[in-house]
Amino acid sequence: MQMEHLTQSRREFIQGVSILAGSTLLLSSFPWLNPLRASSQTSMSANSRVRIGIIGPGSRGQMLQQILQQNPHVEIVAVCDNYQPNLDKSVAMLNGKVKAFTDYRHLLDIKDIDAVVIATPLHEHAKQTIDAFSAGKHVFCEKSMAKTIPDCKAMYDAGRDAGKILLIGHQRLFNPVYLTGMEWIHAGKLGAITQIRAYWHRNNDWRRNVPSPELERIINWRLYWDYSLGLMTELASHQIQVANWALKETPDSVIGIGGINHWHDGREVHDNVALIYNYPSGTRLIYDSMISNKHYGLEEQILGPKGTIEFEGNRYYSENPPPAPGILQLINNFEKRVFEAIPIGGASWAPELASTDKGVAIINQYPLPDDTTLQMEGFVQAIRESNPLEGLAEEGYNSSVATIMGHQAMIEGREIKWPSEFKL
Ligand SMILES: NC(=O)c1ccc[n+]([C@@H]2O[C@H](COP(=O)([O-])OP(=O)(O)OC[C@H]3O[C@@H](n4cnc5c(N)ncnc54)[C@H](O)[C@@H]3O)[C@@H](O)[C@H]2O)c1
Repeated sequence: MQMEHLTQSRREFIQGVSILAGSTLLLSSFPWLNPLRASSQTSMSANSRVRIGIIGPGSRGQMLQQILQQNPHVEIVAVCDNYQPNLDKSVAMLNGKVKAFTDYRHLLDIKDIDAVVIATPLHEHAKQTIDAFSAGKHVFCEKSMAKTIPDCKAMYDAGRDAGKILLIGHQRLFNPVYLTGMEWIHAGKLGAITQIRAYWHRNNDWRRNVPSPELERIINWRLYWDYSLGLMTELASHQIQVANWALKETPDSVIGIGGINHWHDGREVHDNVALIYNYPSGTRLIYDSMISNKHYGLEEQILGPKGTIEFEGNRYYSENPPPAPGILQLINNFEKRVFEAIPIGGASWAPELASTDKGVAIINQYPLPDDTTLQMEGFVQAIRESNPLEGLAEEGYNSSVATIMGHQAMIEGREIKWPSEFKL
């Protein structure tokens, strides 16, 4: 059963790579996809494997480990976790055939490890990444980069100075829906973008079961400021990255407000946030996130005078959709109540209800390949081919800085500008 599952995912993955590599996407717009293109110039021999160490195989780390275990070009040499039950699970996933550590520095001491995957809580990312670069490793580090802007910059600089790859886990950068939609946006299909709206709504307490009370802050690190910036670093960071990518800009400033209005359970981080990011073009990202209602789910809506893209829903909507066939149009008209003009402000006034146009799919391929799998393949191929993931360290950095600015705006209750010394 397990083997069937692996084979199926591997098949989907290969399909995914071929969509990206063989697509009509202008690969020059997305240079980080280059390592995924079939290449005969692999500097490692065809059979050689990238030797990887995993630091922090918790919930996300185990998922990344599983993906990497299915990759024939990867050997997981060592794993490290300072929480024994997670270390044991990670070792068991590899049938015990792996070196195991509780201190990541011992893992970094292994000379022939090429790269590390860091999936620890946010507050650990900076020092582990910088130490990994000092030890000569490439780094995949989960989003968001770090808790402070100077730490993000130190990570970015360390990777650049070491000449190693730094990939931050924003998997949408490898998602065919986003790649295709971004190409449309950048080619002007929506007109110049005039607004971006994004939200991430869930309805759960974000808590994990804690076997004994002294482990509360270690296991529920997301809920405390010492370890996390809450919804901003855990959810918003992905969507801010999408907004930056769509606009090809980074925000000049942000205002925001956040607080706890539902989960009064001893947590410190906000359970609801609302922010506005201002971009140099005059466009704004209007953002909110909450964890007490899931009706609207999550979305990034890119709006321009000619159309709208909703990435999560894989939809493009024209502002002037082709008319529906006669009978459908009649039903739509009744549904929209265009025949029930309400006599306010003139006889022809009708409420400006949302468009009922169903739009078209950005990508018509099902199932869509898993973007995290494609991202990890990109990381592995980049190392095998000595072909850097051009532009991705910058994407990670710019999203992380904006995320932290949003946090500061909410905590300090004022507009926060991007500090000029931290522009790339
Ligand atoms: N890209 C995505 O879509 C995505 C999704 C989920 C989580 N994440 C990110 O992944 C990271 C981890 O999240 P998670 O939900 O897996 O957390 P988690 O708590 O489940 O896992 C973190 C693991 O790191 C271990 N750890 C903590 N400090 C350590 C240290 N000093 N040395 C070694 N191990 C240590 C913990 O014991 C735990 O096993 C976060 O940065 C999170 O934002 C990204």
